[in-house]
Amino acid sequence: MTRDLASHSPATFSHQELFQKIGVLKKEMNAIILAHYYTVPEIQQVADIVGDSLALARAAEKNDADVIVFAGVYFMAETAKILNPDKQVLMPDAHAGCPLADSCPADEFRKFKEQHPGSIVITYINSTAEIKALSDITCTSSNVEHIIRQIPENQQIIFGPDRNLGAYIAKKFNREMALWQGYCYVHDDFSEEYMLKVCSEQPDAELIAHPECQEEVLRHAVFVGSTKALLDYTVSSSCRKFIVATEPGILYEMQRRSPGKLFLPAPKALDNHRGVCTQMKQNTLAKLYQCMVNRKPEIVVEETLRLEALGSIRRMLQMSPG
Ligand code: 13P
Ligand code: SF4
Repeated sequence: MTRDLASHSPATFSHQELFQKIGVLKKEMNAIILAHYYTVPEIQQVADIVGDSLALARAAEKNDADVIVFAGVYFMAETAKILNPDKQVLMPDAHAGCPLADSCPADEFRKFKEQHPGSIVITYINSTAEIKALSDITCTSSNVEHIIRQIPENQQIIFGPDRNLGAYIAKKFNREMALWQGYCYVHDDFSEEYMLKVCSEQPDAELIAHPECQEEVLRHAVFVGSTKALLDYTVSSSCRKFIVATEPGILYEMQRRSPGKLFLPAPKALDNHRGVCTQMKQNTLAKLYQCMVNRKPEIVVEETLRLEALGSIRRMLQMSPG
């Protein structure tokens, strides 16, 4: 018996049925599915490309698809649309926002810029199109170090919206930077106290951390890097056990790449509550299928704003390592 959409909600389909239906739609629509490492495993399984923010921006820039289905958070899909005005960009759930991006309103950021005249504005990709339009260069945690090295030493820098990533870079490169005081609740909530406790309980494990964590946590890490850099580190390290201080969605790919190693999500509290990004988890397989059937929610970016935001994204892609 075949099921049809009219009588069945996607929520009643099994993962296998949804994989098959999404595969058929993908061909019919000439669509590409991009997913961030923090999404649930079944989304990562159905995606054509799974990556961090930089890899996904690059994939959005260079593909032959007519439709981009973006399973991530809003600023990621918005960046894909800014790069592809002629393609349809869909999201499984357009309410999947990023509180870090939302913590930096354009009118306040404009005033912040006015307080630091002559500064170059380097902005984390976790920001709205309006903030990108006010910026000189966009960056991600994968390419920020490469980009900072290209900025003359006497050049003042404004960095936003993530204060922890900004402070990490300012310290590492001994650069004075005016930092917007935003943060990612997922990474900022990891505490030094709980991290030291789990490290003492697991003396044979290496602590690795994303630079969106606070300095108090980063200083205990054996390795600090973007989501992709952390993944690569776990593959190349001879260590067999890792305490991973970032969003635990990446553990799926870490485990897949290194089946013999053990990955422990870093605890946020003594009850071992994990640092989960609830916005990323709003992407479900059923919603992904439904957005392809309905061709919505669709991302729309007003053309003047798109062109203003495009410059800082293009500069990032030009300044990134090959
Ligand atoms: P990366 O994917 O660039 O590591 O960024 C982490 C993040 O918080 C994405 O929202
Ligand atoms: Fe935003 Fe943090 Fe979630 Fe990334 S993990 S989308 S920065 S809230």
